[in-house]
Amino acid sequence: MEDRYGHRISYLRVSITDRCNERCAYCMPGELHEWLPREGILTFEEMLRVVRIGMALGVSKVRVTGGEPLTRRGVLGFVGSLTQIEGLHDVGVSTNGTLLTRKTEAGVTTASALRECGVRSLNISLDTLDRHRYAQITGRDLHPDVLEGIAAATSAGFPQIKLNTVLMRGRNEDQLLPLIEFAAGRGLILRFIELMPVSTTEVLSEENFMSIGEAKRLIESHYGALIPEPGFRTNGPASYYQIPGRNQRIGFIGAMTNLHFCESCNKLRLTCDGNLRPCLGSALEFDILTPLRAGATDSELRQFFLDVVDRKPQQHDFRESYQPGRKMIAIGG
Ligand SMILES: C[S@@+](CC[C@H](N)C(=O)[O-])C[C@H]1O[C@@H](n2cnc3c(N)ncnc32)[C@H](O)[C@@H]1O
Ligand code: SF4
Repeated sequence: MEDRYGHRISYLRVSITDRCNERCAYCMPGELHEWLPREGILTFEEMLRVVRIGMALGVSKVRVTGGEPLTRRGVLGFVGSLTQIEGLHDVGVSTNGTLLTRKTEAGVTTASALRECGVRSLNISLDTLDRHRYAQITGRDLHPDVLEGIAAATSAGFPQIKLNTVLMRGRNEDQLLPLIEFAAGRGLILRFIELMPVSTTEVLSEENFMSIGEAKRLIESHYGALIPEPGFRTNGPASYYQIPGRNQRIGFIGAMTNLHFCESCNKLRLTCDGNLRPCLGSALEFDILTPLRAGATDSELRQFFLDVVDRKPQQHDFRESYQPGRKMIAIGG
């Protein structure tokens, strides 16, 4: 699948729930949220069908996200079914990390169960090492759970674990170096993400915004010039660097300030309420739930996918201070 701008689509992000056990200010401010009605959420079978359709058209990597995906009942069974799909070699999960130590019926941690299911990469959000600040950012005092979750994930043997840190002036700019040291000690890839305008204006004011350029300068003032690694890519739009003198990779995701951000975009998103979304930063989304439930054939659904890809914009609208009506939690970050 290739769109009119040469974006080749190989990556589907599947949001399996809009629910979450945290209330991050930039994603789901507590006072605003209403859960989607349960019948409006795709069943796992429906999601698997959409993934298979996507695969017939070139999708080779799926990331399960949310909301918090580990809050949905049956998530391990779903992930297990995904990894069993022939030809789908790369299944990842994005999580806030708070539930990774929860024991499954088999008595192992959720982290181990995910690895045993065949999940290759885990992305875990961690904006700060300070418990008090963590509670302020996420609305929940679950920092110890996340640290234990990260420990469980590292011992579960995933080929790749990334920590994601959203940059926020006044909230975590003093945490960049401690987070780098934290990641170094555990062999994890740390990525810094620019705040995107998908939540309330109060959180997204210019005062709170910190660019990846500024974060990079701050890091370089301590470690020296970072060494670019243009040859290293994960599936997303991050640029990676090595810290000089040590074997540590860090990444930067600059949706707002990197003007080439969208050029290599390979993604489509499936929202938990059954919309295919060609771009996170554009209001366009297309209802695939209705045709799915109305008995559309595989070939009709394939055509639906191709039509969505055809509508993929050249780039996102964030820089025009676009504010979609939906919050990140409902789109699937
Ligand atoms: C929506 S979350 C879903 C998965 C999981 N609950 C988690 O927190 O990782 C996916 C990612 O989006 C990021 N995110 C949410 N809102 C954001 C925003 N306004 N700007 C930038 N990143 C955001 C989160 O920090 C997280 O790394
Ligand atoms: S970023 Fe993740 S943990 Fe935070 S509210 Fe959004 S979905 Fe929940």
